[in-house]
Amino acid sequence: MYLTKEEEAILSGELGPEYQKAMKVLVKLGDALGAEKLIRIVHAHISGISYQNIGDAGLEFLEEYSKVKVRVYATSNPIGFDMKLWSEMNIPESFYRKQMRIVSALKRMGVEQTFTCTPYYIRKPSVGEHLAWGESNAVLYANSICGARTNREGGPSTVFAALIGKVPCMGMHVESYRTPRVLIKVEAPIENSLHAGVLGYTIGLYVKDRISLITNIRRRREDIVKAICAGLGTSSSSPLFFIEKISPEISETKLKHMDITERVEIEPHDLENIMDKYSFRANADAVFLGCPHLSYNEIIEIFNYISKFEGTTKIPLTLVTSRKVFNEIPENVKLEFRKKNVKLICDTCFVVAPLKHMDVRRLVTNSIKQAYYLANIHGVKVGLCKTRECIKLAFKGEA
Ligand code: F3S
Repeated sequence: MYLTKEEEAILSGELGPEYQKAMKVLVKLGDALGAEKLIRIVHAHISGISYQNIGDAGLEFLEEYSKVKVRVYATSNPIGFDMKLWSEMNIPESFYRKQMRIVSALKRMGVEQTFTCTPYYIRKPSVGEHLAWGESNAVLYANSICGARTNREGGPSTVFAALIGKVPCMGMHVESYRTPRVLIKVEAPIENSLHAGVLGYTIGLYVKDRISLITNIRRRREDIVKAICAGLGTSSSSPLFFIEKISPEISETKLKHMDITERVEIEPHDLENIMDKYSFRANADAVFLGCPHLSYNEIIEIFNYISKFEGTTKIPLTLVTSRKVFNEIPENVKLEFRKKNVKLICDTCFVVAPLKHMDVRRLVTNSIKQAYYLANIHGVKVGLCKTRECIKLAFKGEA
């Protein structure tokens, strides 16, 4: 791989052992995968920072690199608790201390304390920008909805990319790789984020690591495309898809010259088959909304709907968002949530939290991603329903 003089100097250790190791990994990766050079990125999003997921090995890794600073704007994925409400969440002191060591390490490195899986609400990428993002829903959103360019980076590689400010020029950074091979025609009505997430999940099962072009989606609201990204990222390793009339790179010319090798139709029963696996409703002990983290508009929409209900929730209802969005929510909305015992929390989600200490065994959500990981990682019994049904269930206490 061609290296500039500056890159050679970093590789030979001129800036110290941490930058040298980071550069070595990037060069090795680039050489192994046929990259010709490194390219500059404008934003790294560091994933894999919850102590629940990375344990002591991850903590030591981050502390090792916290002696030096990132060389590009960098944000961070969710951690294991809400920074301000951790004791109310029943987080054990030992977990808290280890997680806070991770937070301090990231701070020393100069990483923004965003703790969200929706970095696109912190800084929206532009068409053609090169990024190094971890977190599958964010990667798909950046590539597919914003037209930016990032591979699906893992936690450590986002750290190395942030330290160097560059990534090997390969995969999604290269124009010729950004071509759909599978055409997906959606023949099922996609009216809300539950259906959209399940649709994304179903498409992911078909495409695996391939790039698809999704057609015939009539509703193209923000919450719908975001849920498709989250669902598709859950069941596949695909880094990019195109949606007709949304993805900025899909021009009429590109559509005409595509080399589609497979065509798939998604019917209503394909989605029903997935939803049937999450049909549980009775005796839920928690209701969760906010995977991926809620946007400002989603929270206001939930607030408006919640205003119709008298009294407080019978089943705890948790809404999750980023600290940035939380700070933008008007005080009267937060007050109303508190009055109705609706918990609006930040920095985390149930998947990356130490859930066994939080008394959550039977949960209902509108997100296939949250459902999939809670069932498979935490052994929680999960039911899937639409946002409004989730809220009704929380207030009425039964389906
Ligand atoms: Fe975000 Fe947690 Fe879902 S990190 S995408 S809310 S599983």
